Amino acid sequence: MRIVLFTGKGGVGKSTVAAGTAALAAARGLRTLVISTDAAHSLADAYGAAPAGSTNGGAEPTEVAPHLFLQQVDAQLRFEQSWADIQRYLLSVLDAAGMDPVAAEEMTVIPGAEEVLALLELRQHARSGRWDVIVVDCAPTAETLRLLALPEALGWYIERLLPIQRRLVRALRPVLNRAAGVPMPGDAVFDAITRLHTELDEVHALLSGPDASVRLVLTPEQVVLAEARRAYTSLCLFGYRVDGVVANRIFPASDADPWRAAWVEAQTGVLAEVAQSFAGLPVFTSEYQPAEPVGVDALAALAHDLYDGADPLAPPLGDGPFRVTRPEAGGAVVHLALPFVTRAEVDLARNGDELVMTVGSYRRLLTLPAGLARLAVAGARVVDGELRVRFAEPAPAATGKEAR
Ligand SMILES: Nc1ncnc2c1ncn2[C@@H]1O[C@H](COP(=O)(O)OP(=O)(O)OP(=O)(O)O)[C@@H](O)[C@H]1O
Ligand SMILES: [Mg+2]
Repeated sequence: MRIVLFTGKGGVGKSTVAAGTAALAAARGLRTLVISTDAAHSLADAYGAAPAGSTNGGAEPTEVAPHLFLQQVDAQLRFEQSWADIQRYLLSVLDAAGMDPVAAEEMTVIPGAEEVLALLELRQHARSGRWDVIVVDCAPTAETLRLLALPEALGWYIERLLPIQRRLVRALRPVLNRAAGVPMPGDAVFDAITRLHTELDEVHALLSGPDASVRLVLTPEQVVLAEARRAYTSLCLFGYRVDGVVANRIFPASDADPWRAAWVEAQTGVLAEVAQSFAGLPVFTSEYQPAEPVGVDALAALAHDLYDGADPLAPPLGDGPFRVTRPEAGGAVVHLALPFVTRAEVDLARNGDELVMTVGSYRRLLTLPAGLARLAVAGARVVDGELRVRFAEPAPAATGKEAR
């Protein structure tokens, strides 16, 4: 089963291109699901279909064409189901602390969490065996995908600390409840945290796995390109395979009046930068249509022109952004694709069997593969858009603590 995700700055055409790609897949006879975490239901609008939920409560995908199904996720509902136990506990704590219930409710909402939870739906669909292709229309930029790496960052806490805390709380609950007046979390809270962690971890594994890839959608404008470049770096950092760039809404050059000619010139300049920035990735281009592409046929036609004979569902090439090599001289080298980044912008630290990588405001905790954990970081450099961290046998007197 192939999973293709589309992300990019707001309004560049993510939903249009996702919907078109899915329509193309379905036209080939593949059982295709297109899923959106967007509360605005713009996929249904693009297909010119009734929004899912108006007929079946949004639980089941709606068929918009043969083999083509649309699932619009009710993020609010998903949020309530997954988060309810944890939120109820937090609310009871804040209530005991004398906080106004309305303000407390606001405090227990994490920005972006709804969309991340909506992706849980993806996990169920991927497991169902019902689909050959799943196309995901993601939220603007890579925020959602970045949040999905959260379970990895919390792994240590969940696996080692949570069970201890749980035992401790169970033992102390009767005493503490009476003494402090602050409710102790019940088993339901711990269960909910553990379950959420496992499910999110699975979604992250699925989306960063060998059958999934992300396409960056952009329009040829400087500001949009700058954001796409940042998204590319952070997607690589978090282990996603980026397998293409879509340059959308390109003005046709023929018969241009002075106004359009100026746009054509500006766009041509940015497109040259796009090609340079994403060298090695295919750049698919799509013209600015004379009308909004709405309806299955119009979207399929747009996607047909966009991919121009290339297979939109070709398996992503390469090993993904992360790999380990073992040089003959001994030790190991961890390679991580980090486009557009210089060595000075990467901060590295070692924390037990984790490598902590910070690039700008993004941080990833990478659990080292077995066999590397006992080695020491011997150096790091950035070569050709790739971070290479060299691991060697620790010197006998090593303290096990190295940084940078
Ligand atoms: N190649 C194109 N030619 C003409 N109109 C287009 C083209 N691509 C997209 N559009 C139109 O541009 C508008 C925005 O597109 P779309 O909704 O796909 O963007 P989006 O990136 O999903 O936006 P959002 O960030 O709000 O989710 C829509 O009205 C769509 O029909
Ligand atoms: Mg959209």
